[in-house]
Amino acid sequence: MIHILGIPGSLRKESYNAALLRAAAGLVPDECTINVASIRELPLYDGDLETAVGPPAVVAAFKQRILAADGLILASPEYNHSIPGVFKNAVDWASRPPSAFGGKPVAVMGATPGRMGTILAQSAWLPVLRVLGMRLYVGKSLMISGAAEVFADDGRITDETILDKLREFVCGFAGFVASSRG
Ligand code: FNR
Repeated sequence: MIHILGIPGSLRKESYNAALLRAAAGLVPDECTINVASIRELPLYDGDLETAVGPPAVVAAFKQRILAADGLILASPEYNHSIPGVFKNAVDWASRPPSAFGGKPVAVMGATPGRMGTILAQSAWLPVLRVLGMRLYVGKSLMISGAAEVFADDGRITDETILDKLREFVCGFAGFVASSRG
């Protein structure tokens, strides 16, 4: 069994990126699961707090979920042509020693109501993933533009072409995770 943890980089209840991960979870083969995490409860990184009492319990639990996963999918919104601060904050917490990320297979995808499909946010993740020592999936890319038309009010995707692309992306990543495990 391959356990993938999807992390949406948004706090919004109706986040397109969270909806994208939920859609992905319904498209993977039987030998694979995608669970969707939340970064909503994570506080801002505070080095003084960390030194005084260690990471908050909610951070430790988030790290544990990452450690337990065979691979991660980051579903990243794009803010001002880069990574949303709340998402970077979550990854910064989980990178604190001992890092939860070293050697972990990772894929990045994203959805936006805009026209550029989060391409700049996805590029901005690259140096972060490299310094964290993650194994980046480059077999496919997935950038969803015009999200307001792609997602129905309940967050579902009905466009078969987009569902096929999403299926190819996550199934390709599942294969990458399996081959990374050896
Ligand atoms: C945005 N948004 C945005 N979209 C984009 O494609 N490129 C961008 O540079 C930005 N910049 C940006 C900055 C800030 C501060 C906000 C709040 C938003 C729009 C963004 O894609 C939109 O809010 C998405 O709905 C965010 O993703 P979730 O929350 O739906 O997952």
